[in-house]
Amino acid sequence: MSTSDESQTGSLFKQLRDIQYALDRSAIVATTNASGRIISTNQKFCSISGYSASELLGQDHRIINSGHHPKEFFRDLWATIAGGQVWTGEIQNRAKGGHLYWVDTTIVPFLNSRGRPYQYVAIRFDITARKQAERRLREQGTLAKLGEMAAVVAHEVKNPLAGIRGALQVIGGRMPHDAPELAVIDGIRARIDALNQMVQDLLLFARPTPPTMMATSLVQLFEGTASMLSHDPLWADVEIVLPSDGPTLRVDAAQLQVVLSNLLLNAAQAIGGHGRIEVTVESDPDWCEIRVSDDGPGLDPEIRDRLFEPFVTTKHRGSGLGLATAKRVVEMHHGTLTVDSSETGGAVLVIRLPTH
Ligand SMILES: Nc1ncnc2c1ncn2[C@@H]1O[C@H](COP(=O)(O)OP(=O)(O)O)[C@@H](O)[C@H]1O
Ligand SMILES: [Mg+2]
Repeated sequence: MSTSDESQTGSLFKQLRDIQYALDRSAIVATTNASGRIISTNQKFCSISGYSASELLGQDHRIINSGHHPKEFFRDLWATIAGGQVWTGEIQNRAKGGHLYWVDTTIVPFLNSRGRPYQYVAIRFDITARKQAERRLREQGTLAKLGEMAAVVAHEVKNPLAGIRGALQVIGGRMPHDAPELAVIDGIRARIDALNQMVQDLLLFARPTPPTMMATSLVQLFEGTASMLSHDPLWADVEIVLPSDGPTLRVDAAQLQVVLSNLLLNAAQAIGGHGRIEVTVESDPDWCEIRVSDDGPGLDPEIRDRLFEPFVTTKHRGSGLGLATAKRVVEMHHGTLTVDSSETGGAVLVIRLPTH
């Protein structure tokens, strides 16, 4: 070999090393043999997957399989690269620590003299942030659609419901006070109220309207809400203790009534219609704190962290919108809604509202 050949080979090596260096700096790289066993990885692969190089070498990519993609997805991938074609796509993987990540992936087969792949190089880029942003956008789109739907439901369902409820009231009013049918009428009215509440939740959650603040006596608000709920047979054996005095706040009374009735309803359901629910209120010049406590089983630890997310429910027919809506309304009043546990093990929901 002449010196000029040697220096040419040397500079070719250097160029290759430079390219490899640049690639390792920018991409997650792994090489596998023809049967898919990992024969080399780079630092980026180790750091995103959480596995060390020695844990990865000799394994196939099932080690980071998240289970997200159907079998056909990988069958198609393998058919493409085994046939000598480049495969590109987006893959969700699972890291050693259990968390999921997304990679934009290109797999290039290297062919031997007979045109058969003898190894594959996979070059990947982390696109987890983009995937998350896309999901958020999709969720917002769903929420906007839900808002439109809720508006239609509100119009088509709420008004007739109010009509039926009014008619029932008239019929009930014409009956003798001891008519046994009055209990039936109360039952129907309670169901209408529950339906109304659900529509109201959906509407408030999906289409939050800014509150119209008016001076409102909290005690009156509590009493109004409790008497509205008391038609439901669920409340027949519930002792509900309300504070005898409390401040007057500037709030949207109708919206806060939805919040309170949601909390009271949850409490009554938690105690299975038998027991005690207590509402207390304390205020100082800055904050007013309303606590709704029950002596039920308390919050299920499985959902405690996600309690205020929409559609989180442990109930057979629950919508999971009650607390999400309540939190939204309270936050629009510049307050907070949180949970606490009582000494007796029951649940305590805490509303804090600014007093001015
Ligand atoms: N007072 C309470 N005691 C125990 N669990 C509660 C209480 N309030 C709410 N929860 C839990 O929070 C979940 C979500 O409540 P919510 O958003 O009102 O939806 P839903 O009532 O439709 O289930 C309930 O399914 C229940 O598991
Ligand atoms: Mg509820």
